Amino acid sequence: MMRIDIITLFPEMCDAVLNESVIGRARKKGIVEFECHQLRDFAYDKHKRVDDTTYGGGMGMLMKAEPIALCYEHICEALGKKPHFIYMSPKGKVLTQTRIRQLALLDHIVILCGHYEGVDQRVLDEYVDEEVSIGDYVLTGGELPALVLADSVSRMVPGVLSDDLCFEDESHYSGLLEYPQYTKPFSWRGKEVPEVLMSGHHANVEKWRREQSLYETLTKRPDLLDNAALTDEDQKILSRWTQSSLTDE
Ligand code: ADE
Repeated sequence: MMRIDIITLFPEMCDAVLNESVIGRARKKGIVEFECHQLRDFAYDKHKRVDDTTYGGGMGMLMKAEPIALCYEHICEALGKKPHFIYMSPKGKVLTQTRIRQLALLDHIVILCGHYEGVDQRVLDEYVDEEVSIGDYVLTGGELPALVLADSVSRMVPGVLSDDLCFEDESHYSGLLEYPQYTKPFSWRGKEVPEVLMSGHHANVEKWRREQSLYETLTKRPDLLDNAALTDEDQKILSRWTQSSLTDE
């Protein structure tokens, strides 16, 4: 069981996504629990203000510290502990599958979605354990990033995917990109499925898939090869390609 609390100004937006498809099913089954909190409910003045102007000047508005602190404290009180608190921000460390796998081992995560120009630094210093970015680009708010995190972490929780083994072959799991896949019909618009996949020869299929994974990674994301766990055989296959392309030139 894993629980993720999201602190947001748009809880309906988050619920709408988390109620669909694979994650929606896991939520209904109770394998993952999501609680989307309306930050405005924790505003303490009569106008329900959650943002204000920045000290030192500047155009934008910032999210105020106190409503965020009150919301996080409310979650801590309900649980009787201080769950890992993540702030989605382009200043954070960029999310990877390795980090996602680690986060999936926690039983509780709280995610703060930023808006406007950001959040008062004091509440980040006081409560936030980690800032996480989903990539080197900027979105209008933290909801989509929070949903990316919630989705990618939840699907690693045992029981969420129909077959617990099925993420082991996919892209990024072993540090390589996934091999190409094919389904029926055998012949589509004159293009046939690679012969080896029709052979029923399991070892040959595995060998072909490994080679294809290496080829995909070498041609599309060679940077990933630096951190991938490669066997001597993998290295041999790769050097064959890199050497032949050198001699081609
Ligand atoms: N908020 C805005 N842009 C973001 C990003 N790239 N990652 C996480 N949170 C964000």
